[in-house]
Amino acid sequence: MELGQVLEALPPLTDPNVLVGAGTGDDAAVYRIAPDRALVATVDFFTPIVDDPAAFGAIAAANSLSDVYAMGATPLFALSILAFPRQRLDTGLLGEMVAGGAAKLAEAGVPVVGGHSIDDPEPKFGYAVTGEVHPDRIVTNRGAEPGDLLYLTKPLGSGVVATAIKRGLCPPSLAAAAIAVMSALNREASVAMLKAGVHAATDVTGFGLLGHLRKLGVGAEIDARAVPFLEGVRELAAQDVFPDGTRRNHASLAAVVDWGGLPPTEQLLLADAQTSGGLLAAIPPAAAGVFESAFPAAARIGVVTGDGPLRIRP
Ligand code: CO
Ligand code: CO
Repeated sequence: MELGQVLEALPPLTDPNVLVGAGTGDDAAVYRIAPDRALVATVDFFTPIVDDPAAFGAIAAANSLSDVYAMGATPLFALSILAFPRQRLDTGLLGEMVAGGAAKLAEAGVPVVGGHSIDDPEPKFGYAVTGEVHPDRIVTNRGAEPGDLLYLTKPLGSGVVATAIKRGLCPPSLAAAAIAVMSALNREASVAMLKAGVHAATDVTGFGLLGHLRKLGVGAEIDARAVPFLEGVRELAAQDVFPDGTRRNHASLAAVVDWGGLPPTEQLLLADAQTSGGLLAAIPPAAAGVFESAFPAAARIGVVTGDGPLRIRP
């Protein structure tokens, strides 16, 4: 049983105001508080993935906001969650991390209204974010239709980069590029997908591009060559620099993905576990132009095919 499944095995929800609960694998929970208003709630925290504490704080903040943006919602406020080894680490680092997170949230217009911290051998940081959405305009991971175009709004490779950093193998320029990508807000991408009448969306995180694509519950054909990667990630992949999470993702895809003869290293790249990844959005083809002009950095990576398998075009 995966950890997520343990949480999803909660008692069934009977409250009619729970519009999105834990059972659908969605990015955030949605709770109706008035006929035209619903709250969106999500929590995310993790251990440091980069050396610079301010950058880690910014990434943690962008990552926590991402689940709200993926649901087409507007974040309202955040609570911080902090674990820190008081005895072992300099509290100056802690201050930089918290300030990095606060600055990123300020960029999003989201105040930090409180939080909780504990003494813990390993640092961990993140936020619980509350947002708002109109109950009729919630974007979930269901609703993609055959013919919808699949767009990815950030390049992949952050799992490979984090592992390379830990092993001392990451070129500084690649680390800097990955930090920029991971700390970028998914706000503009979210606005663009709403403008284009998105059918379904999710953000790409630990399960990787294909793992999160599976959560859309539809068949799809992905053009491997259209999937964007951070520059330099392929060189690390060629040295077999992959995190365990990526290998687990890849193993779990064996039965459900037709790789079309794609080389194993390229398969692992498509399965790379991401931190604070981009949005994966199913856009109706008639609105492709609207979406692409609203968010020109998005890559069109494939098409929804219905109930069939996930097919990779190498
Ligand atoms: Co998510
Ligand atoms: Co999340």
